[in-house]
Order: sequence, then C-alpha cells, then structure tokens
Amino acid sequence: MGVRGWAAAGTGAAAGAVLGWAGRRGEPLVDLDPVWVGSGARAAIQRRYEAPTLRRLGGGLDGGAALEIGCGRGVGARLAVEAFGAGTVVAVDVHPDTVQRAAAAVDGLPAGVVSFSVGDATRLDLPDASVDGVFDYHTLHHVGRWRVAVAEVARVLRPGGRLYFSELTRRATNSLPLVVLTAHPRQDRFDTAELVAELGRHGLDVGDRLVEHAGGAWVLGAAVRRRG
Ligand SMILES: C[S@@+](CC[C@H](N)C(=O)[O-])C[C@H]1O[C@@H](n2cnc3c(N)ncnc32)[C@H](O)[C@@H]1O
Repeated sequence: MGVRGWAAAGTGAAAGAVLGWAGRRGEPLVDLDPVWVGSGARAAIQRRYEAPTLRRLGGGLDGGAALEIGCGRGVGARLAVEAFGAGTVVAVDVHPDTVQRAAAAVDGLPAGVVSFSVGDATRLDLPDASVDGVFDYHTLHHVGRWRVAVAEVARVLRPGGRLYFSELTRRATNSLPLVVLTAHPRQDRFDTAELVAELGRHGLDVGDRLVEHAGGAWVLGAAVRRRG
C-alpha cells in the first residue's frame, strides 16, 4: 500500500473509531448545532432560500393564522408575516432560553402579531383545526417522537391549511460529520419517502410540492391538509 493508501486507510480507521465512540456513547464530540442555528448564515439561508422556496411550493397565507414549531431564534416567525402574509403567528420552542431570545427577531412588527411561548411539538396547546399554516424549519428531525408531532400538526391545521417544511433526513442526521459534531436523535429518523408517507397517513398531502437537495439529505416541501 502506498502513502496515499495508508493515509486513506488511516482516515477511514479514525473515522470508524470516532463514529463507533460517538455511537456507543450516543454523544457527539462537540455540539455545533446551536452555533449554526444562531448564526447569520443560517438566518440568511432561511430568508433568501427556504422561505421563498416554501412560498413557491405552498403559496401564501393571506392574513391567516400560523404556527411555527421549534422557532429557534425566531426568524421563521418573522418570515411567516413578511414572506407568507400571515396575520398572526404563534411560535413555540421547547427550550425556554430560546423562546426568550427569539422575541428580538420580530422587533418592528406590530405588537400582538407574533407571540412566542414555550411549547412541545408533540403536545400543542392549540384547538383542533385552528391554524392555516404550520412552519417546520429543521425541527421534526430533532423530535424523538416526530410521528406524534406530525399527528399534532395535522390536528391543529384547518382542512386546506398547509404544513411548510424544510427538513434534514437521516442521510444528514446519521452521517459521520453530524454524528460527531451535532446532538440529534439517531433512532427512527426518516428519509423523504418515509416523511411524505407519514404526513399522508395524517391527511397531509405533499404531491409534487417537494424539492430535494444533497442527494436527499435536505428536503423542502408543502403538504396540504386533506378536507374531510
Ligand atoms: C435545528 S433547530 C431549528 C431552529 C429554527 N427553526 C431554524 O430553522 O433555525 C431545532 C429547534 O427545535 C427545537 N425543538 C426540539 N424539539 C422540540 C419539540 N419537541 N417541540 C418544540 N421545539 C423543539 C429546538 O429547541 C430548536 O430550537
């Protein structure tokens, strides 16, 4: 084996050892996810690519009521108003610190349009069929019981309402770099077909309103809540 061969074998062995270690411990070496989620680059992608793409796929909300699950720094809640025309937005995140910081993202919007609160996507504190649009920017893949969250989203959406999603599939979450550098649930993650099928089981039809990137590691789409 030449030098390159040894180098490749060494890299592979090191990667395997790290993956094995991370897998056994169930912990990453570091968790860079919060750094990424709080970065200007993340906000720029949300603003310049994800929101326009989701709007093209699923249309606007025309003054309707929106919910965002896993609002993080709050950019999605602002975009629900500015890019989708939502009249009101309830934005929830399971982490209280995150919710407290998110309020700054809606500075300058009229008071009362967006409200942030601590909330769990698997137990939404909203009545059945009460919202016109739900935004999921990279949250479902963080939720252990993501199927329960899908059922909750379907429950709170009005017939004809839309779920807008931008999600990482297990091709991303269970890849070596993300296993080593981020904390995500790794069990029972979804690929695009499984996500679309689970949405369909709960009356949320995606059809051709779907865009995939990075070989299916990143998927954006809009699902319409079936009537009846
Ligand atoms: C990768 S971050 C995405 C944040 C933001 N939506 C974005 O795109 O930048 C995932 C967010 O989901 C939140 N989250 C995780 N599990 C949740 C749950 N069960 N219910 C609500 N939020 C949750 C996390 O606290 C975190 O803010």
